Amino acid sequence: MRLKNKNIIVTAAAQGIGRATAIAFANHGANVIAIDINNEILSELNSINSKIKTQKLDCTNKLAVEEFCSSINKIDVLFHAVGFVHHGALLDCDTEEFNRSINVNLYSAYLMSHSLLPKMIKQKKGNIIIVSSAASSVKGVPNRFIYATTKAALNGFVKSIAADYIKDGIRSNAILPGTVETPSWEGRVQMADDPVQARKDFIARQAMGRLAQPEEIASMAMYLASDESEFVTGTLNLIDGGWTL
Ligand SMILES: NC(=O)c1ccc[n+]([C@@H]2O[C@H](COP(=O)([O-])OP(=O)(O)OC[C@H]3O[C@@H](n4cnc5c(N)ncnc54)[C@H](O)[C@@H]3O)[C@@H](O)[C@H]2O)c1
Repeated sequence: MRLKNKNIIVTAAAQGIGRATAIAFANHGANVIAIDINNEILSELNSINSKIKTQKLDCTNKLAVEEFCSSINKIDVLFHAVGFVHHGALLDCDTEEFNRSINVNLYSAYLMSHSLLPKMIKQKKGNIIIVSSAASSVKGVPNRFIYATTKAALNGFVKSIAADYIKDGIRSNAILPGTVETPSWEGRVQMADDPVQARKDFIARQAMGRLAQPEEIASMAMYLASDESEFVTGTLNLIDGGWTL
């Protein structure tokens, strides 16, 4: 019960890292509002743990986010995992694709944080955890131009919030996973010209010779969300199986 009675919002909760994290948080006593744009899969969470309430929400929709956040009374933690992987280098990324990644990966984090931070400041306590990536300011990865650019921005995002609001009792940290076996990762494998080889290549680039499971990322999230990490803010937490060694 490391998160007993904490009120936590988890975004991108329908699948992958967000889903595993929502379940882990609820299993440790948190009241979780699990958000996703995909209500069909999201609603499965309702029958998994009664401490999870689901909410369909597009985290890039300003009005919808503000309306939802105005209904929140007490918020201890925002765990934001919304993200989209564009495949390609700079010359493969047109303006529309550029703006889409900025919108989904960066603007969604801004909107959710911008709407919830005033409540946290009022409480004199709050905790923002953003899922970034090792493919960011930490590691240059082929064909991840706009993805890594937005994730690098998120690394600056958490540090800025940590610096500006530390006196208000706000903490802000990022999680930087390597490759995690999630439905969207599986989709990227299947879209490759040779999915069998693509799977092998993804696994080979992890020094440990395996992918992470979403539950392993949830374990790190648990630490950052709990009071065990009270002295931790502005940090970029790699969990990458040695990818960036
Ligand atoms: N899987 C990996 O290998 C990996 C590695 C490093 C970082 N990450 C990051 O972790 C996060 C989660 O990735 P994943 O692979 O676990 O999940 P995923 O990509 O499988 O699922 C993402 C979820 O986000 C939801 N979503 C998308 N846009 C949304 C929006 N506008 N509003 C609300 N929900 C929205 C989708 O419906 C989906 O359920 C992402 O930010 C991703 O960049 C993933």
